[in-house]
Amino acid sequence: MSLFDSFGRLHNYLRLSLTSRCNFKCVYCYTDDDKPPPAVAEDFLCRLVTIFASQGVTKVRLTGGEPLVHPKILQIAKNIKNTQGINHLAITTNGLLLHRYLSGLIDAGLDSINLSLDSLVPAKFAFIAKVDAFDKVWRSLKLSYEKLPIKLNCVVMRNMNDDEILDFVELARDMKISIRFIEFVPYTGNQWEDKRFVSHQEIMDKITKKYSVTRVNLEDPIAKYYQIEGFQGTIGVIGSITEPFCDKCNRLRITADGKFKVCLNSPRELELDNGMDDDMILKAIREELWKKPKEHGGVEKMIGNGNKPMIYIGG
Ligand code: GTP
Ligand code: 5AD
Ligand code: SF4
Repeated sequence: MSLFDSFGRLHNYLRLSLTSRCNFKCVYCYTDDDKPPPAVAEDFLCRLVTIFASQGVTKVRLTGGEPLVHPKILQIAKNIKNTQGINHLAITTNGLLLHRYLSGLIDAGLDSINLSLDSLVPAKFAFIAKVDAFDKVWRSLKLSYEKLPIKLNCVVMRNMNDDEILDFVELARDMKISIRFIEFVPYTGNQWEDKRFVSHQEIMDKITKKYSVTRVNLEDPIAKYYQIEGFQGTIGVIGSITEPFCDKCNRLRITADGKFKVCLNSPRELELDNGMDDDMILKAIREELWKKPKEHGGVEKMIGNGNKPMIYIGG
């Protein structure tokens, strides 16, 4: 059994937001306008993973808020990785608690980590995340990068961290990680402004002025990856707005309050609850997936569209 939508896209990747809480308040993600929804019970989450895995989902990513603030993170990770059919368990984290949980997560079967890091200057880091924690996150990165594949996520914002693009690129010289620059996307409450936006093209122009690059990993549906000669790691750019990848979308989501979401940028959500039997859940999921939009339609369709704040969806 496989999960196809009405445009023929196969969905084999589930992103689970474990909590709407976060120990940072990043300017591009956090909102204090809203009341955080209560987290969904972990036994229901694990049941949902089993149901999705029975329909061909093979990869699960844990997100948040910040997934490592969930008190049962290790148990959830282990249960999910032990689910028949799940062969890749990933996490997207801000790294603050990673040094504490890394070995437990590896024991639970974690396969890879995407780590958010938006500035290499401690004072700027603190301005963006609203917590003075650069040193701890840096320590987590150093601790984890030789143990698991790491992608570093940097949301580029004009006059905030766009002057650090080349410093981030330099990290890939000696570290075998992917440095990924991400276009800033508007979400409810996240302080997005046109003048803060830096495009994929502008990011690459800055990089190619200094380095000669070759496209690699052409099969990746989301990021465009580049290799610089002599560098251990790679450079990636995620151009969600100017280089959308909706035609290759293979993702499904469960939000922090347990709603099924077929598109990150659409306000559509489906209520699911533990009282429904597996067949009811499957029927509801298939019907909702059939309504998945073809594409996000650009910034104009994202602003004020009633979508949840990013911190509740988990990216
Ligand atoms: P992998 O390919 O599994 O490494 O995941 P990822 O790189 O997509 O995940 P991550 O959580 O690191 O997110 C990186 C960026 O991609 C964030 O800005 C996400 O919001 C964005 N992103 C993730 N999934 C989607 C999606 O389905 N659509 C769009 N437009 N952006 C997405
Ligand atoms: N635009 C682009 N990416 C974002 N993320 C969070 N908010 C935004 C936004 N407004 C990214 C973070 C995190 C990932 C899950 O989503 O970099 O690593
Ligand atoms: Fe929270 Fe910071 Fe992670 Fe966000 S990185 S979910 S505020 S972002």
